[in-house]
Amino acid sequence: MTGTVSGKDSPLIMDNVHTVTGKRIILGVSGGIAAYKAAVLLRRLTEAGNRVTVIPTDAALRMVGKATWEALSGNSVSADVFDGADRVNHVRLGQEADLCLVVPATADTIAKMAHGIADNLLLTTLLSVSCPVAVAPAMHTQMWNNPATRHNIDLLRGRGTVILGPVSGRLTGRDSGPGRMMEPEEIIRRISALPDGKIHGADLRGKTVLISGGGTREPIDPVRFIGNRSSGRMAAELARSAALRGGKTILVSANTEAEILRSLPGSVRNVPVQTAAELAREMQKYAACADIVIMAAAVCDYRTQCAGDAKIKRGKDPITLTLVPNPDILLDLAENRRREKQLVVGFAAETGSAGKDFLQLGREKARRKKADFLAVNLVGEEQGFGPVKTELFLLDREGREKTRFSGEKSTVARDMMEFLAENLYPAENRP
Ligand SMILES: Cc1cc2nc3c(=O)[nH]c(=O)nc-3n(C[C@H](O)[C@H](O)[C@H](O)COP(=O)(O)O)c2cc1C
Repeated sequence: MTGTVSGKDSPLIMDNVHTVTGKRIILGVSGGIAAYKAAVLLRRLTEAGNRVTVIPTDAALRMVGKATWEALSGNSVSADVFDGADRVNHVRLGQEADLCLVVPATADTIAKMAHGIADNLLLTTLLSVSCPVAVAPAMHTQMWNNPATRHNIDLLRGRGTVILGPVSGRLTGRDSGPGRMMEPEEIIRRISALPDGKIHGADLRGKTVLISGGGTREPIDPVRFIGNRSSGRMAAELARSAALRGGKTILVSANTEAEILRSLPGSVRNVPVQTAAELAREMQKYAACADIVIMAAAVCDYRTQCAGDAKIKRGKDPITLTLVPNPDILLDLAENRRREKQLVVGFAAETGSAGKDFLQLGREKARRKKADFLAVNLVGEEQGFGPVKTELFLLDREGREKTRFSGEKSTVARDMMEFLAENLYPAENRP
């Protein structure tokens, strides 16, 4: 596979062993314990024929000394914005670069980047680059999950910075969890696998994301319906995350509160529907242009055979409603893909029943539905619906747990969209 990423003078050339070669690269190193791994990355980049200038922060130099960076890069190294003032180093270095990496990126440096602070040589350089910028966050799980850090990451991503990881694994101390820096080999693989243009934008730019949400209502008569307790909040948060990542986003919303819809970014196209039949029609229509299809709506499994034209009057005798099954919209979208290399994701809200726990039911459903992923969550009167915290288990089509997300719906949606954006590229390469 050969791919190119536009650099300033010429494209970054990627060869079939995932190498970036022949480029001027700024390697920013901030003061995380993973700074020693940046030395391995530096070695790989220079061996592949790149000219690398290392710009450490003061804190990074307390982790790994200047001599290491100078010896491995073959260039002099400074962290001081006043060094080389005659050559205007604080902006020149950035202006000449084809690619800028920050490995590891501390919470502190990420925050400063997000807010345009320029109190060291790395930060002045980052403010003056016109080349692609990629950062590999590394920090303790609590620091990574802190809303301040996550907001800063969203700001950077929204401006087109490529966020590499972090991954889950062993941290500085004895504990482990999300926040571990991506390995140098994987960083090189990700950078070289980014197709033309992607590195410049948010990772869903140029992609269309179709999401259904809310709960369908099946009329009994002109004023009554069979419905469910889905608020549409989860789908709205997914739509917000997709739009933030640059995706063209279409939300097919079944009976979702106006307040939830009003809070969405203006770029999200809202298609309101009421019944399962309407939802099926709109999803099938828009799926023809979607790269990712997410069925998060709670669709009534049954509808009334014939809804009356007039309000049913109170009487003394029992009445019978005949219910007929609605079409399985997710199965149809997954089985009959409207577009090649499309990622189809379903949601399954389970309560558990007949001696089976909700996850077991989810696994069985994942195998039946033929979607690429099924997000399973436990629901009940007090759980899963409305503005509450949630836990989602993401299963693949064999029912194996790939990952899980937990927290506020906004957090879960953001993490899930991140996972899907990362997994879209392998899907693109699927035969
Ligand atoms: C041993 C040690 C390890 C650290 N590891 C990390 C880390 O992995 N991630 C992080 O965000 N901060 C870490 N810190 C804190 C940063 O070094 C500190 O926030 C510093 O101000 C970062 O400065 P910089 O962003 O300019 O490099 C660590 C500090 C120490 C003493």
